[in-house]
Amino acid sequence: MREQFERIFGATPTGVWAAPGRVNLIGEHTDYNDGFVLPIALPQAVKVAARARPDGRLRLYSAQGDDVVTDLSVAALAPGAVTTWAGYPAGVVWALREAGYPIGGADLYFDSDVPSGAGLSSSAALECAAAAVYRDLYELPFTAAESAVLAQRGENLFVGVPCGVMDQMASACCTEGAALFLDTRDLAQRQVPFSLDEQGLLLLVIDTRVKHDLGDGAYAALRAGCERAAELLGLAALRDLPAAALSGAVAQLPAELGPLVRHVVTENVRVGQAVELLEQGEYAALGPILTAGHASLRDDFKVSCAETDLAVEAAVAAGALGARMTGGGFGGSVIALVPKDAAGQVEQAVTGAFQAAGHAAPNVFTTTAAAGARRLA
Ligand code: GLA
Repeated sequence: MREQFERIFGATPTGVWAAPGRVNLIGEHTDYNDGFVLPIALPQAVKVAARARPDGRLRLYSAQGDDVVTDLSVAALAPGAVTTWAGYPAGVVWALREAGYPIGGADLYFDSDVPSGAGLSSSAALECAAAAVYRDLYELPFTAAESAVLAQRGENLFVGVPCGVMDQMASACCTEGAALFLDTRDLAQRQVPFSLDEQGLLLLVIDTRVKHDLGDGAYAALRAGCERAAELLGLAALRDLPAAALSGAVAQLPAELGPLVRHVVTENVRVGQAVELLEQGEYAALGPILTAGHASLRDDFKVSCAETDLAVEAAVAAGALGARMTGGGFGGSVIALVPKDAAGQVEQAVTGAFQAAGHAAPNVFTTTAAAGARRLA
């Protein structure tokens, strides 16, 4: 990376940083309802070589981009001004400046192996990598969780995507061998041991290659629906609706809002159950919770699609203990909890089902819980 940096920017980088993508085990579309989530960081990450610049210029280059250097003035950054991938890291720098941090310019060379548009948080990884760079280059005093909130603020206000805080928290705060149990209301977090290997299990990621895009309005509409339901129920957020009050609440809401509420409330319950099982070492029992989560996303929240449903169905039929889509939905990836000795047959079954249905071949890989954002060198 150092050589590539030197080739593009004609100077030596100060260091190299990394921030990972993520899969969420359970707790989908709960974060913007002040609820609970349980992501792990992926071994796939955005790496970035960087150095500070005294002239206030922010220069961004991606090995996955179209071979152009995006050259911006830090002082002139304004929401909506950058419409390419570079908006994600630039949004973080904008958020840092808005927060009053004394920052200057930088050169950043990005190289990512997080599949983009696959529901694996490649954009949050770009943001958290930029935040880690700025923290070190300008000796800023914020914590990993604070960097996640700044990154989310950049994505919400600079890029204009109304995402919750899960992806940024996962990329900034996950630790190796653990899932991050996060209360998105107060950002209280607990690292829950997640080492499937000892249990003879593994986690498959099935990227359906159906491109997922949060910017297309569907995500914002779901978020608005949840907020409207909370308002009608007189609650600060749907997280505040107890499961025991669910059916009464659904009965009193307009027909299109009831299922959204049912998903969020039951999903928060599933996160609690999953954490308890993991802490007791009962990993296999996580399977049915994943599959129930998928049914809720498919039937109540309606964010699955033919390919994600097929991947879940084929994986479970071939011996997966459970499976569900992960991330925002409308395509993207599915995770499947699989006994090691069934992994080959599950992968074959999913690939075969996709072929038979005329879908493009999915990208299937095994994952483990990796570390969050960090300086590498
Ligand atoms: C996207 C958003 C997250 C979260 C998920 C759904 O990944 O960025 O904040 O809302 O969708 O759980």
